[in-house]
This record gives sequence, structure tokens and C-alpha cells, in this order.
Amino acid sequence: MSQTTEYSKKVLDHFMNPRNVGEIEDPSGVGTVGNAKCGDIMRMYLDIDDDEVIREAKFKTFGCGAAVATSSMATELIKGKTIKEALEITNKAVAEALDGLPKIKLHCSLLAEQAIHAALWDYAERHDITIEGLTKPVNDIDETEEFYQMEE
Ligand code: FES
Repeated sequence: MSQTTEYSKKVLDHFMNPRNVGEIEDPSGVGTVGNAKCGDIMRMYLDIDDDEVIREAKFKTFGCGAAVATSSMATELIKGKTIKEALEITNKAVAEALDGLPKIKLHCSLLAEQAIHAALWDYAERHDITIEGLTKPVNDIDETEEFYQMEE
């Protein structure tokens, strides 16, 4: 995995050609998260069927290139997954699927992870259910220091 300040080919590809940009009309769940420090905002829309499988995922990101790339990869990773499987997609999984991110850009992958959680939280609230293992996402991810960091 690349640990330099260079962007991997996959990051550049997902930044230049982001997958699943846009919004879902009448989504099952939608969540927005931001990072007050860098000012980036990510909104995730999910379409979830009766078997709790994520049929569609779309996003809108107002942010840096890495935030666009991580949103794009996150939507690709969760499509076709169950809610339970989607919860296992951490910021580490998103960063690794992109062949790594520069250290100072790892927080962008946390935005993607938290956007998924925020959309699932909204889904749970709309359906009056509890999703095991899902905690209420924070609106500002800068409030949490706990996220995957690659070794020096
Ligand atoms: Fe903050 Fe990318 S610089 S999300």
C-alpha cells in the first residue's frame, strides 16, 4: 500500500471519474457529515430493500479530491451489501480499497465511513428500528479522534 504523499492510481481514477454521484429520489436513508476543520461535507443516499440489502448508493460531496474518491469507493463497496456488512466497511477498508491515502488525507476516508453510518442511522429512525453495532454518528467528524491511521 502506498504510504507516500502521492495519490494512488485508484484515488486519482475515483476522483476524476467518481462513481455514483448524485442523489436518490425518495431514499431509504440519507445522511450528511462534515469536518469543520477542512470544511468538507459529504451526503450519502441509500436505497435499501426489504431484505436490508443496499440496492443503490449515491453521494454528493463538497470537498477535496480524496473526499470525492473515498465517497465514490464507499458507494461502490456498500452496493449489494446487507446493512450488517455495510457497517463493517470502515475508513480503513475504504482507504485500502483505494490502495492507500496520504496520511494527511486519511480523515477524508473517515468522512465516507461516517456518511454511510449517518445514512443508516436515518434509515433506522425512519423505520423505527435499531441497527446493532451502529452508534449515532457525529455531524462533525473532527469531534472524533478515533480513526484508522497508517503506520509512519
Ligand atoms: Fe477534509 Fe478531505 S481535506 S475531507
